[in-house]
Amino acid sequence: MCGIVGITSKKGAGVLKDLISSLTKLEYRGYDSAGIAILTDKGIEVIKGVGTISEVVSRALDEIKDGSTGIGHTRWATHGEVSEQNAHPLLSCDRRVAVVHNGTLDDFEKLRDRLMAKGHRFSSDTDSEVIAHLIEENITLHGDIVEAFVKTVMSLKGSYAVAAIIQGYNALLVARNKSPLVVGLGNGENYCASDVAALLHKTNRFIFLEDGDIALVTPDTVKVCHLTSTGEALSVERGIELIEWSPELLSRGSYEHFMLKEIHEQPNIIRKIAENLNYYRKFAEALFGYLRDGSLSIVAAGTSYHAGLIGKYLFSKMLSVRSEVIIASEFQEWSHHLRKGDIVLAISQSGETADVLEAVRIARSRGTRVLSLVNVPGSTLTRLSDEVAYIQAGPEVGVAATKTFTAQIAVLYLISSIMKDLNEGKIRENTERSLLSVSKILNGQLDEFKRRSKDISERIKHKKNAFFLGRGINFPTALEGALKLKEISYIHAEGYPAGEYKHGPLALIEEGVPAIVLVPYDEDLRRKIIYNLMEVKSRGALTITVQPDNVDVPTDFAITTDSSVGELLSPLIYAVPLQLIAYYTAVSLNRNPDKPRNLAKSVTVE
Ligand code: M6R
Repeated sequence: MCGIVGITSKKGAGVLKDLISSLTKLEYRGYDSAGIAILTDKGIEVIKGVGTISEVVSRALDEIKDGSTGIGHTRWATHGEVSEQNAHPLLSCDRRVAVVHNGTLDDFEKLRDRLMAKGHRFSSDTDSEVIAHLIEENITLHGDIVEAFVKTVMSLKGSYAVAAIIQGYNALLVARNKSPLVVGLGNGENYCASDVAALLHKTNRFIFLEDGDIALVTPDTVKVCHLTSTGEALSVERGIELIEWSPELLSRGSYEHFMLKEIHEQPNIIRKIAENLNYYRKFAEALFGYLRDGSLSIVAAGTSYHAGLIGKYLFSKMLSVRSEVIIASEFQEWSHHLRKGDIVLAISQSGETADVLEAVRIARSRGTRVLSLVNVPGSTLTRLSDEVAYIQAGPEVGVAATKTFTAQIAVLYLISSIMKDLNEGKIRENTERSLLSVSKILNGQLDEFKRRSKDISERIKHKKNAFFLGRGINFPTALEGALKLKEISYIHAEGYPAGEYKHGPLALIEEGVPAIVLVPYDEDLRRKIIYNLMEVKSRGALTITVQPDNVDVPTDFAITTDSSVGELLSPLIYAVPLQLIAYYTAVSLNRNPDKPRNLAKSVTVE
């Protein structure tokens, strides 16, 4: 879950500043340590250390020489503690090779022991360092630098996106397997990075490498070969894709945090999705057709899993279609029943979540069709899928998913509505209109939501626990509200189906514990949840409701929303105050919501 970047230029010097700005754009992938290595006429210069990228590389401009080729890394530790020694880039014994790596190598201990027996000295506890020593060893054995790199990659097992630089060789040597890596194409310079976001300020032309690809990237050329299962490296052509995200989308603008900016973007994204209804038609038609042959399993992680639960509800309620939602990391053990012809719908913001990719590989090996809803263009999941629909939320930088959650729900609603039309053989006009009206309501209510959420955050910020209760379609919204609060404020929070609460968790309610209750639009459900609310209130809970504005609910605090929204679209509105409560609580506790401790945006390890 690290970020890597590389630039090779023929200008002779001057990649350092660009390297730093690319690396800064990758900071959301990991932020416990960082480093840069530059190929200069004096050899390879390295600067690295513990801390944020700006803390570490602010020294770079003064302390190291600039050069024509360089690599950078932002780390989220997996092997080895967070320390300067373990920060990347990592060097070979002769300091002629520097590498950055994202992923985890299997059996690296064996490789390390073998190399140590040959006299290599290791300076870190990382698995990644073996790569630098292996390249050094293979250069001694084979002479040719490219061959040495290919031989090195052949001996690696596990997941890796690697970029290496070698003294005297103005190029990047890169390879990927089960960790993301793209090659960017510039003028007189070329790049590599963990994702396109790092390079959008330099180019919008990309080559998306496949698992098993190795590339030699010089300032003018990119040569790709692919490692076959029989151990050969065959030359391959990979197409160039244009990415339309503008670099401005990656700026925070006047917002204090990316998370707040991304919360604000939601009304516009929902509007854009509504206006693009026809774009989703092909996907919905494909899913509708496939449903005749097999069963539907939704697979996702984290916030996307919660969106998947809402999808399951919509498919059941609107189409009477049965589906299941499997947490991606559990897929292997819970999917033995899947057969040829069944359908897996994968939902992922990044399209790079290792658990989701592994689930999809397992599903494919069982002969299922794979359809996916993804945000990041060109991501690995898009290339493992038979059909892809983009949720079109634009880049999400804050580690806490916000706008991509509501975009996923809006797209699931559109797809379900289109499939309902197909089922009934008619086209209803109101699908687009209802989403547009949600977008308008959200726009109009955002300031009030912010004001109320800020007040509530002051009341809950010193609490140890909080509970989120929902029913029906807003049970997953309750799960999402709890996830938001715990991941950025570090307050323990749980989401429950409100009716289930009395079967155990009610024992945890004591004086002042916040219970955040999502009041249904549906009258019958509402009657039941008010009863559940009274259960917690009478035991001392501090009750906070998110509710339609035309109903009277006995509560300590209420955030009200337009009563015209209706049950099916209510998660799109209810999610927003929950995101804001989490945001203001984190900020008020002096915690950075964009970079919560221990977490990274894109979880590329299993
Ligand atoms: O990129 P994905 O949607 O596959 O990511 C899945 C989860 O890692 C992600 O939603 C995570 O739970 C977020 N930090 C939640 O805010």
